[in-house]
Amino acid sequence: APGPSTNDRLHTFMGGESGPWKILSCNPVKGESLPAAGRLSVVQGAPPILSSESTWTLRGATSNERYVTREEKNQLVARQVALGRPEAKYAALIPIRKSAAWWAMTQDERRAVLEDRSHHIHTGLKYLPGVARRLHHCRDLAEQEPFDFLTFFDYPETEVTAFEDLVATLRATEEWKYVDREVDVRLVWD
Ligand code: HEM
Repeated sequence: APGPSTNDRLHTFMGGESGPWKILSCNPVKGESLPAAGRLSVVQGAPPILSSESTWTLRGATSNERYVTREEKNQLVARQVALGRPEAKYAALIPIRKSAAWWAMTQDERRAVLEDRSHHIHTGLKYLPGVARRLHHCRDLAEQEPFDFLTFFDYPETEVTAFEDLVATLRATEEWKYVDREVDVRLVWD
């Protein structure tokens, strides 16, 4: 049987004047920021109309995991929750691009940086189930995209401080030396 179509896996993030998420802040962590926008909408699949009002559009597709071990996968599945809990009124869209040096490494070398030396998964697990996440890949889409990953998180107000700790911890790791563009967009549902 065919796998899920790219259209189901595709998610389109549009910054502009409309959408349920109000943009609280948009900070360039590394490299160029995104143009200023007031609101964000997230659409699964291709948007029915190409909204001319949107100031920027980013696309990514969910995919299979690349790095997790079976043991880590079991822990993730046991703890993770889906996006969209009613109490998860806060969110972050963090588009990330990694350098040529990252992509020149082999799979086992990247795993060594990401987990053995940066503990990305081990650290992230501590923030579940308060924070819900979805990772989108951009490099496999037909059109060339400005980022390699679109990371999206939602969480209740009680997790706002914890989320700051999480991003600060990850940004201090060896893995983040390979991040050459990162924008941090914070959102509230209102
Ligand atoms: C990848 C877990 C938070 C950015 C991953 C992967 C896991 C993971 C398991 C590897 C997926 C695979 O095997 O392909 C978590 C958990 C988090 C968390 C449990 C807790 C909420 C974050 C945050 C950011 C982030 C806050 C951004 C600031 C990324 C990126 C990748 C990734 C960019 C892709 C890395 C690559 O393939 O090179 N995360 N993460 N993660 N995560 Fe996280």
